[in-house]
Amino acid sequence: MILPFDYPSYYETGNAIESVKIAIQNPIVKRMYETPFKLYMMDEFMSYFGVLEGWKTDYPLVDGKLVNVEPHWMRQMGTLMVNHGIEKTGRQCDECHTTDGILDFELLGYSPERVYELEHLPEVSTRR
Ligand code: HEC
Repeated sequence: MILPFDYPSYYETGNAIESVKIAIQNPIVKRMYETPFKLYMMDEFMSYFGVLEGWKTDYPLVDGKLVNVEPHWMRQMGTLMVNHGIEKTGRQCDECHTTDGILDFELLGYSPERVYELEHLPEVSTRR
């Protein structure tokens, strides 16, 4: 059985194991390891994959540790669009083009003159 990832935490931390732990604590995933789910769905699901002994109800997270879980590389069959989780409105001009903006132009390597220009663009009316 392939375990799910919690994508937000995976993208934020890059920690695959922790992301799996978070995802499998979702109530619907926990239910998959209970007998009703096994009988009504999972046994049939496993036989579809050729696993005839059926679904094992051993929940793979015990005392915060994954049990009987192995990482494997797998063929990538799908792609995900990166438009998920994007905010409706983008950064406004004056979030960057101002002194103390979200980008440190000096740290990025711009010369002092260029930093001044980028922080004081005539095109952008700054708040200060
Ligand atoms: C996320 C930060 C960010 C935002 C938001 C942003 N800019 Fe910029 N802008 C930059 C950076 C960095 C540069 C310098 C790019 C380079 O060195 O090639 C730049 C360059 C420019 C320049 C060229 C200045 C010159 O002297 O060549 C103009 C004009 C400009 N931005 C206008 C805008 C306007 C108008 C908006 C809003 C619609 C905007 N920027 C939003 C980061 C930003």
